[in-house]
Formats: sequence, C-alpha cells, structure tokens
Amino acid sequence: MIKIEHLRKEYPGTTPLSDVSAEIRDGDVISVIGPSGTGKSTLLRCINQLEKPTAGRIWLDDTEITSPQCDLCRVRRRMGMVFQGFNLFGHLNVIENIMLSPVDLLGTGRQEAYDRGMELLRLVGLAEKAMSWPDELSGGQKQRIAIARALAMDPEILLFDEPTSALDPTMVGEVESVIRDLAKSGKTMLVVTHEMNFARSISNRVFYMDEGGIYEEGTPEEIFGHPRRENTRRFIRRLKVLELKIESRNYDFVDMAEQIRRYCERNRIPLKTSARIQLVFEETVEHLLRPTLNPPKIYAAAEYAEETGLAEWEFRYSGPRRDLREDGDRLPLSVVEGTTVRTEYSWQEGDELPNRLLCTLLST
Ligand SMILES: Nc1ncnc2c1ncn2[C@@H]1O[C@H](COP(=O)(O)OP(=O)(O)OP(=O)(O)O)[C@@H](O)[C@H]1O
Ligand SMILES: [Mg+2]
Repeated sequence: MIKIEHLRKEYPGTTPLSDVSAEIRDGDVISVIGPSGTGKSTLLRCINQLEKPTAGRIWLDDTEITSPQCDLCRVRRRMGMVFQGFNLFGHLNVIENIMLSPVDLLGTGRQEAYDRGMELLRLVGLAEKAMSWPDELSGGQKQRIAIARALAMDPEILLFDEPTSALDPTMVGEVESVIRDLAKSGKTMLVVTHEMNFARSISNRVFYMDEGGIYEEGTPEEIFGHPRRENTRRFIRRLKVLELKIESRNYDFVDMAEQIRRYCERNRIPLKTSARIQLVFEETVEHLLRPTLNPPKIYAAAEYAEETGLAEWEFRYSGPRRDLREDGDRLPLSVVEGTTVRTEYSWQEGDELPNRLLCTLLST
C-alpha cells in the first residue's frame, strides 16, 4: 500500500536518510525504533510529505505522492499523524477540535461530524469530555483526543511519532491501550516508540533505523529477541540492561535511584522485584564504598528476563580481591542474601575492575 523507493533526505550538513526502500502493506503495524537522530521522525515526515525528500519516490497505492503533480492535501487526508506534543486548539472545546477537519476539509455536515466525533470519543474512552476545554485535560487525555482527531479524517494509515514520550509514566498506559486497540482493529500504522514492550506487543514488523536507513528489519521476536546485526544488538541490549557507573563516594544517589525506577517501569518489572533491584543495588554499593580508604570504582548492570521473571545484578569493582560474601561485617549483605536466590563471585586477573559479583534476585 505504501512503497518507498530509494528515499533520501539531506539537510545542510547532515543526511539522516541516505537510501531507504520499504513496503508497508495494508494492516501492517510497524514499530520504528533506533537511536536518537537516525531519521525516524524524518521518515514519517517524508511519508506524509511534511518534508520534501531530496531523492527517491513514495507511492500510496497507485499514486506517486512524491510527484510534483500530486495533490498533497488529498494525500495527507489519507494519513493521520499524531505527534508527541498533542497540539489541540486551545480555543476550541474537545468535540469542536475533532469536528474541525472533517467539516472544513471534507465538507462533512456538522451533525454527521458531531455524531462521528462522539463515536470516536467513546472509542478513546472520553465521551464525557466532549464539552471540556483542552487545558482542563490531563496529558494522557489530550493525547487520546489527538488520536480521535486524527481518526476523524478516517485515514487509511496512521503515523505516530513517540505518542507517549511527553507523558507522565502514569498516563502512558491509557494512550498505549488506545493505540493497541487500533492495531488490533487492522489499521495500518507506523509507530515510532522507545517503549520496547509496547512495540513488541502491537507490531508485526519492526524497523531498526541506523546508519542512514533501515539497518535491520524483522518481526518483534527477531529484532528484540535475536537481533542479527551489531548495532541492533547493541541498541537492544541497552534497552534491556541498565548500566550504572560509580566513580566516587559522592555519586549522585538520587539520580541513580531514579534511573533504576525508570528502568523497572519501562521493563514492566513487578513491584516486588523492582523493590529488590533497588535494595540490592543500595546495599551492595553502600557496603562496597564504606570501609576502605580508597573506595573502589564500581560498574553495576541490572538485567531483567521477562520470560523467567528473574532479575540479575552484576557488580564489577576495582581494588584487591574482595568477595563481599566473606567480608567480616555481614549485615548489609545479609539483606542482599535474603533477596537473592544465588550469588556468585569471581576474579578476573588483569581487568580494570577485576572483582565480579553476580546476584540473581528472588522472583516471588
Ligand atoms: N528541519 C531540519 N533541519 C535540519 N536538520 C534536521 C531537521 N530535521 C531533522 N534534522 C536532523 O536530521 C537528523 C535526524 O533527525 P530526526 O528528527 O529524524 O531523528 P529521530 O530519529 O527522530 O531522533 P529522536 O529519536 O531524537 O526523535 C538529526 O541529525 C537532525 O538534527
Ligand atoms: Mg524523532
């Protein structure tokens, strides 16, 4: 349904897309992932012609939308776009926001636009907000209205650019669930997202973008479970593993606790396990930093395996051989021992951080 041929987009000094070819079939739900600056937004903006490609062609069914003769207004009507900023018109109430484009651009009668608008509001769970003003709504509600507004044009394809990234964590779920329902209904969608579990659960294909194009594509299972190429592997690992470095005793404890909290949230780690992840980190790091004159440098990596529910902490630290489990003062570690199923110590001679402690946390 959408065919992209050798798409290239240059900006002065940077070429985010050097050569992109892809086919998006009817009913495809494609997650677009990749590091910042790799052209994910640019790709979406080229598809709906908000940006003019430098070279290459894009087809929407039989219409070449990159052709100068193409009627862009007609094309854009067939594609709905939802950004992260949910830009609703502040001077219009909710239902008016939704009715605006169908009435103005499609010539839909007001009653019909109203009825359809109410239907869409029910779909996103906000029928009772029809007469509210945008600034009376939460971020999650605004974003759901923005989705309803995009749907009001009855687009054949929906493009989402990080629809939940501007939201409070508490509101991410409600927006994701609306998008998930749309995906199930068979709507063709392209979704740029950093939420791995979300991407995994809604899409049938994943585009990993890097090095000027679609660097690797596959099913969610392939990309998230068994990425083949180097950059994809590294990116996926970074999504799954939380890495922290402690260089001195004055490390930013609050920031690290926050990073751990966000990591747990992003990976949907059960509360009990999250609490243990936090606890084992705090106790181990405190214990490592306490007694010595020269506190060690510490590298800590947490990894959570969804399939087994097991979380693991790996601590690597500098200094002489020191198995924490044999330290005289066992108090902090007894806390750790009460929360772990297994601890393992090893020594890597010659390594900058030769001590290695592996803790597998209790899962229930
Ligand atoms: N209008 C523009 N003018 C000049 N450069 C631009 C413009 N839009 C994007 N770029 C550049 O193109 C590159 C790709 O940007 P793009 O926004 O597509 O990345 P992205 O993958 O969406 O990143 P993020 O994950 O941070 O949103 C970046 O280097 C960006 O600075
Ligand atoms: Mg972007």
